[in-house]
Amino acid sequence: MTIKEVQDEILRLKKEKDICVLAHSYQAREILEVADYTGDSYALSKMAAAAPNKTMLMCGVRFMAETVKILSPEKTVILSSPAAGCPMAEQFDKETILQLKKQYPGYTVVAYINTTAALKTVCDVCVTSASAVKIVSQLPGENILFIPDCNLGSYVAEQLPGKHIQLMQGGCPVHAAVTAAHVDEARRRHPDAELLVHPECIPAVAQKADYVGSTSGIMNYAIQSDKKEFIIGTENSIVEHLQYTCPDKRFYALSKSLLCEDMKATTLMDVLLCCQGKGGEIIELDADTIREARRCIDAMIALGG
Ligand code: 13P
Ligand code: SF4
Repeated sequence: MTIKEVQDEILRLKKEKDICVLAHSYQAREILEVADYTGDSYALSKMAAAAPNKTMLMCGVRFMAETVKILSPEKTVILSSPAAGCPMAEQFDKETILQLKKQYPGYTVVAYINTTAALKTVCDVCVTSASAVKIVSQLPGENILFIPDCNLGSYVAEQLPGKHIQLMQGGCPVHAAVTAAHVDEARRRHPDAELLVHPECIPAVAQKADYVGSTSGIMNYAIQSDKKEFIIGTENSIVEHLQYTCPDKRFYALSKSLLCEDMKATTLMDVLLCCQGKGGEIIELDADTIREARRCIDAMIALGG
């Protein structure tokens, strides 16, 4: 089958079976083209909560599919590729957080949405890269325990000097591998370009950027900017998507290593197999996990707006 034939069949099956396809912006172009909603993790979780369809197919990673299930337990939620995890989401377990809560009594536990559903059950509020500063700024207490990403946590702490943010040693192995030397080299090669980076990058990289923001934030900034050249410090699919969206501008990867194998685990054929009922993984969560994890996600949506 050609890409076009596969896409047409997906579009037909989606309609026939009332399937809503959600695709994170790190997915391949041919997948984004058949999705009902695309965007960053915050946008996808809000869209998932509002979508009327009976079946939700998440083309992204496991914690994103779990978030959809938590928000819509009555729906069938499918993760497009069972292999698509997020290493950061599994860096801490529930027991560790319960111990940390004893060590830091009275702290508000803020969980990056890149965490398992089980972990969210023992946290107070979730944040995404797009909503973290806004949400943490509204929390009543000064003391915050921020898990698991110390780089996003550092970025939030820099924006909110009035808060005391206790960081943990976790983070995204893909973004955290980018160094200040990559920035210096990219700036040398492209002296007129603006540097746009994701807050999962280390502080030494984020501090050199012209803009720090979520996947959608980076895309919107580049689309709206009058500038013509951009160095992109997030997963390299965004370089490609932006080049299609803005053919008159130029986009460069901050590092060749900015590739997330988990986000790339899903292929267009996986999407077809899921729509045919022959692929993917149906997400199952028990009622207690859904109820407890939902507190965290509802708090995020209430404070994030
Ligand atoms: P966004 O919140 O920007 O979608 O990021 C999710 C993610 O996994 C980035 O690595
Ligand atoms: Fe997880 Fe990093 Fe991949 Fe995002 S880019 S899904 S944080 S491993």
